[in-house]
Amino acid sequence: MPYHRPPLSKDYLAGTITAESLALRPGSFFDSKAIELELGVRVERIDITSGVAHTSTGAELTFDQLALATGARARRLGVPGASLKGVVYLRDLSDADRLRSAMVDARRAVVIGGGFIGLEAAAALAGRGIDVTIVEATDRLMGRAVTTLLSSWFSDLHETHGVTVRCGAGVVALDGKGKVSSVALADGSSLPADLVVIGIGVEPRTELAEEIGLTVDRGIVVDNRSRCSDPEIVAVGDVTVLPHPLDPTATIRLESVQNATDQADVAAATLLGQEREYSAVPWFWSDQYDAKLQMVGAPSAYDELVMRGSPDDGAFTVLAYAHGRLVGAECINSAADFVAVRRALAAGITLPVDRVADPTVRLKTLL
Ligand code: APR
Repeated sequence: MPYHRPPLSKDYLAGTITAESLALRPGSFFDSKAIELELGVRVERIDITSGVAHTSTGAELTFDQLALATGARARRLGVPGASLKGVVYLRDLSDADRLRSAMVDARRAVVIGGGFIGLEAAAALAGRGIDVTIVEATDRLMGRAVTTLLSSWFSDLHETHGVTVRCGAGVVALDGKGKVSSVALADGSSLPADLVVIGIGVEPRTELAEEIGLTVDRGIVVDNRSRCSDPEIVAVGDVTVLPHPLDPTATIRLESVQNATDQADVAAATLLGQEREYSAVPWFWSDQYDAKLQMVGAPSAYDELVMRGSPDDGAFTVLAYAHGRLVGAECINSAADFVAVRRALAAGITLPVDRVADPTVRLKTLL
């Protein structure tokens, strides 16, 4: 049954919630909406002209409208030893279960990739008293998504919890006899490990779209009504590349629950012949130790940053401005700021740059 994926690297990994609580909908939901759910079935080929999807069970599903929501898969690490026992990825429930059982006996873990998955896994591992080293290829953590200020704050946070962070480090091999025992780095050093977690990004599953002949460029290209290059077909979620909601000159792949659900709403409207355009403000969150990060807008597109609160207190907000206008924010344990910035961006208004730094002024009063 479909389930929520974000908790897999957070509460589920920490063991504080059960698999049952991950369910997206109760089973009765699909029946009540007359949705036929075929589980364990792959669509192997789609014939657009006749409107038939051929499945792995040999069935032919006929359709007059088609939506592609094929998602993304975890990128695989292409070095020798990557399939040794004790090496795990983290994308779906079975990965999370594998990692949970591997955590029971693990003493030393190496996490490859300092993005959201790697860092959330590192926090869960460190929380179990496991010795953790994070190996990140670039010069900073979460570089795809956050400002340099946040990257270094999170690096310090992990180090405070006893985790070693190694940025700018390349992995050349995973060593071990049958089971992983160490990670060999490009500088010649070797990190002992009885558990290796790999979180080096995702690759959109575009194969079916390519076979149909849809335009694919780092993902299935869709417009702001979720239509593909063949406008009779819609696509949603991690697999798509869409017009940037805050910058019409750019396109973006938004790997988030927010985007998946907002795009799905738009796609459904399109299939029903309604004219609804995607206008959602992107947002995303991550939990690491006691820090809840909530991001909104396009905080990396700044030319000026304003700090609200103090990073030393463990609760603060970084507001990002471009050409004097608010473009996004990164909030640590500051949910009220997140909500206010989200409202401002959704309404297309800015918050006065000279007022937002004052923590005694609630941001919502500036809206
Ligand atoms: N060695 C070390 N680091 C690497 C390597 C490598 N060979 N290849 C990539 N990386 C690093 C990248 O530089 C980046 O910092 O791995 C990190 C991957 O980060 P993300 O792109 O954020 O991907 P990931 O953490 O795997 O998350 C995957 O899950 O939570 C969701 O939104 C998240 O959609 C994302 C997905």
